[in-house]
Amino acid sequence: MKLTPSKRLWFNGELVPWEQAQTHVLSHVIHYGSGVFEGMRAYPSDRGPAIVGLDEHIARLFDSCKIISLPIPFDEQQLRGGVLETVRDTGYEACYIRPFVFRGYGELGVDPTNAPVEVVIAAFPFGSLMGAEALEQGVDVGVSSWRRMAPDTHPAMAKAAGNYLNSQLVLLEAQRHGYAEGIVLDVDGYVCEGSGENIFLVREGRLMTPPVGSSILAGITRGYAIRLAQDLGIEVVETRIPREMLYTSDELFFTGTAAEVTPIRSVDAKPVGNGKRGPVTRQLQAAYFDVTHGRVEDRHEWLTFTAGA
Ligand SMILES: Cc1ncc(COP(=O)(O)O)c(C=O)c1O
Repeated sequence: MKLTPSKRLWFNGELVPWEQAQTHVLSHVIHYGSGVFEGMRAYPSDRGPAIVGLDEHIARLFDSCKIISLPIPFDEQQLRGGVLETVRDTGYEACYIRPFVFRGYGELGVDPTNAPVEVVIAAFPFGSLMGAEALEQGVDVGVSSWRRMAPDTHPAMAKAAGNYLNSQLVLLEAQRHGYAEGIVLDVDGYVCEGSGENIFLVREGRLMTPPVGSSILAGITRGYAIRLAQDLGIEVVETRIPREMLYTSDELFFTGTAAEVTPIRSVDAKPVGNGKRGPVTRQLQAAYFDVTHGRVEDRHEWLTFTAGA
């Protein structure tokens, strides 16, 4: 999706004009992927823009920093405030929010120790990741020939910039084969996730999803889908999933901040169930959109309203 610039963004503690948020081409992050980021959404509601999972996203950002030894020069409250300030400043009712912590300009070489750490928070318009139609009709996907990194290679639980080379390879291959997305397997050949989404299977009314130990990103939407399913009385099992279960499940869907709850209608050209969005997916999708748009009670306190915060 093409970027639409906002007036300003938050850069190292203050709002600056969008064009002024610059870094040098020799910045460490550009060469070595030494950055971590988050992706959040704000949705319109009766009470104004509602940011979904603000505290959880900020917590994951700090965890990611800790994992890759990136000393962030702000605390959680400052970043939380920065997100609210940035979203308010845009005036958008709905937007995507991208906090990014990275090693900037100063030293080049693999050793990141002396490269300065910079922080940016941008908010900009962003529609459905795979198109509005995909939310209803579902998407066609293929299993990737690339594997998700093994646990002792890259830290999958960190939302680190460098990890996304793997995601790019998965997505580019999927597109080359005419698919909307790829499903990547872990180093042992079990189902892992999409290039930027977690995955769920529905079998005989039960929900199944790979565990955090399967080199997935512990998605915040994944956690919400599990909680919503439990609220609806649907059993959820976190377990290793063999590839062939993708072909024999009743329903499949992706979850993610960007992908929201997107049904999968085929894998490797084999239809999932009857090839249409299934009843459990539909139910969870509706529950997710109802809570994130403030249409039902926010029972788990997932929303932060920019007007009231
Ligand atoms: C690799 C990967 N898996 C899963 C997800 C879904 O995570 P979340 O629901 O926190 O957006 C994302 C998106 O951030 C991702 O990049």
